[in-house]
Amino acid sequence: MKIDIVSVFPEYFDVMGLSLMGKAQEKGLLTITAHNLRDWTHDVHHSVDDTPVGGGAGMVMKPAVWAECLDELLGLEPQEGTDAPHEAATETVTATHTITGKPVSDETPADTDIQTPVDTDIRRVSTCGTAGESGPKTVENAESSALEDSFTVSDETPACQSPQEHTPVLIFPNPSAPLFTQRDATELSHAEHLLFGCGRYEGYDARIPEYYRSQGIDVREYSIGDYVLNGGEVATSVMVEAITRLIPGFMGNADSIVEESYTGANALLEHRQYTKPAEWRGLKVPDVLLSGDHGKVDRYRRDEALTRTDEIRPDLIEQLDCKSLDKADRKT
Ligand code: ADE
Repeated sequence: MKIDIVSVFPEYFDVMGLSLMGKAQEKGLLTITAHNLRDWTHDVHHSVDDTPVGGGAGMVMKPAVWAECLDELLGLEPQEGTDAPHEAATETVTATHTITGKPVSDETPADTDIQTPVDTDIRRVSTCGTAGESGPKTVENAESSALEDSFTVSDETPACQSPQEHTPVLIFPNPSAPLFTQRDATELSHAEHLLFGCGRYEGYDARIPEYYRSQGIDVREYSIGDYVLNGGEVATSVMVEAITRLIPGFMGNADSIVEESYTGANALLEHRQYTKPAEWRGLKVPDVLLSGDHGKVDRYRRDEALTRTDEIRPDLIEQLDCKSLDKADRKT
């Protein structure tokens, strides 16, 4: 899988070279590249935002900068003359990709947010980890195959644009969007290429996702929870982790994914886990888990999952597919 992330803080994603995500990149299962949105600006201040039309607090990210960036990363033809004329640039921003650009700071209003001297190469593309070629992914079953097919370019893609062979799914984190769930993570783990656009300030101009949808691109907007973050970077990190750990071969033990909370038709919170010793500071591991009787252990864990879900997340119980319950469940 190839993942591109666009942000005014690409260095947020340096941590993706660590741990399992770093290993997946070394194995060639994954390539993650963080791009600096400001590299697609042309004005001396590298500004990416402007005041909201209609008034209100804060700043909104401008569509023209995003469009230049996204057209390039999506492999679409640049739309000459459709964007507002560039403000006069006193220096040309170099197009060389480098990881040596100075980190930039945020949270200053437009046109005062000068982060780097213009003679500095601010284009910062960090490939997170030792990226290998993103090899072909094993399709393990027919369902996967069907899902994977849904990410290939349809013949109905509008003729005005010629996207890449595997058009990226374009994802914008947004606190006002539908909630990102395990189901979405599972679906997106079958995509060849994901492109995340991280908003800052009060968000991005609403015409950006609208335009790319009109061009036949699969555009998603997701919230990761009912709270507001400073920008889309953390939300993107959450989604990337939830998605990539489902890529076949990413985790050492595939079973650990299957058994987890929120997975499958009978999405329940997971039962609690214990390790040795059997007694610690006066607290005992439940006897049944020490019995060696796998049937009883499974039953105990299933009952615990149902009870905990009912207590903590009754909404998940309401959504349960009745067919996923067995006779013994109905007694609990
Ligand atoms: N940006 C700011 N807050 C967010 C949230 N909760 N989810 C996704 N993107 C966000």
